[in-house]
Formats: sequence, structure tokens, C-alpha cells
Amino acid sequence: MRRKLAAGNWKMNGTATALAELETLARAFPSPSVDVLICPPATLLHRAAKALGGTDIAVGGQDCHAATSGAHTGDISADMLADAGATSVILGHSERREDYGEQNDDIRAKARAAMDVGLKTVICVGESLEQRDAANTLDIIGGQLSGSIPDQSTGENLVVAYEPIWAIGTGKVPTLNEIGEVHDFIRARLERRFGEGVGRSVRLLYGGSVKPTNASDIFAVSNVDGALVGGASLKALDFSGIIDALSKV
Ligand code: PGA
Repeated sequence: MRRKLAAGNWKMNGTATALAELETLARAFPSPSVDVLICPPATLLHRAAKALGGTDIAVGGQDCHAATSGAHTGDISADMLADAGATSVILGHSERREDYGEQNDDIRAKARAAMDVGLKTVICVGESLEQRDAANTLDIIGGQLSGSIPDQSTGENLVVAYEPIWAIGTGKVPTLNEIGEVHDFIRARLERRFGEGVGRSVRLLYGGSVKPTNASDIFAVSNVDGALVGGASLKALDFSGIIDALSKV
């Protein structure tokens, strides 16, 4: 059985005052029945880990460099994330693919670096609206999966997040059939590449405008093992609704 996972991606949001949201979350879910992960900005990582200390809620980074150290101004290594208290890292988010031109090869190298220091990776894939309209969704996802996911992946160190770019922060969500089609496709690809054992143990998250109001329907879709949540992870109340919905699946 795959353990469900509710992951929050705070993106470039939050200063010290936002830690109060984590304290609220910690009080509500000291020991949640599903895995819960919060990925705050790197500046808050250490304080977030402290605020959630004593609970089973994990913290993670939003990106890392592929190198272990060196002359890379402004960058953060996987080891530094772990040192600050992270146990996971999001990689290949579409905003990084777009803003920094990150390619599948870059993401694979980052994922290797993260896995090498024992971080779990949440590798994001997803199509643009143009690609969906041109019926290229599965081709695009297939290419991102084979290019971004390293060979050393296991059910422990890999989570895949399907995030259609056009659904992120827009309030638009694919139909449940569309989500199911892509998640079944990702599962089949992982089983083909890594064998049934590993392929079936990797958790698949849906991301893109997940809210407390639509979470239950999305979580009922086959091969959806949880969500990667942006906007609705910033407020403890909203994120709690999503954790509750996932706990009831
Ligand atoms: P959203 O973002 O929930 O605000 O749509 C999701 C994401 O980008 O991970």
C-alpha cells in the first residue's frame, strides 16, 4: 500500500510571521494518518523544521543544485537542505522549467544529487495548454518522465507530481478522467522502466488548483496518491481541509 502524501509548496511566499500557520498545523496534526510535507522558501526551512519539531510533519526544499558545493552564487546544495532540516525536495517544477530554462537533464542531475544525500524527491511533470490542445499531453509527460527521473529511483526516494501548467494557480482543474488518464499512464511508464515492484510503490501526486472543495473528488481518482498544493497550502485552515480529505480516502 502506498502511503498518501499531502505536500505544500509555498513557492516564494512567507517570512517569519508565516510560521504561525505551521504552529497551527502542528497543533491540528501532531501525528497525521497520511504523510504531510511543507516546502517553505529556503530562508524559512530551518525555522519551519523547528516549528514542526515533535510532529510527523516533514519539511522540504523547492529546488537544489546538482553539485555538492562550489562556486555557484545564490544556489543551495542538497546537503545544505538536509542540514537545514529538509527530508525532501521538489524538483523540476514548471515555474523553474519556465523561469530558469531547466531541462530534463538538469532535473535528473539535481535528483541524483538529492537522492545521493538521502533526500526524497518530488519530481514534477506537466503539459502546457497548447500541448494539451494539440493532443500531445502523454508524449510530453513520457519525455519528462524518462528524461527527469534518475535510474537510482525507488518507491522511497521518488514521488512524481503531475501538474498541468495551465491548472497551476488558475482555479482550472482537468476533468477527473483527464487526471486519471495521465496518472495511469505515469504508473504504466514507471512499471515498465523500474519493474512492477518499484513502479507500483512510487507515489503519484496531482497538483494544480487543489482546494479543500475539490480535493475529495481528485483523491478518489485511480493512481492519485495525494496532492502537491500551492496557494491552498499557505493557510493552515485550507491545507487542513486537504489533509482531512486525503485521510478519508
Ligand atoms: P496551486 O499550485 O495549488 O496554487 O495551483 C500548485 C503548484 O504549483 O505546485
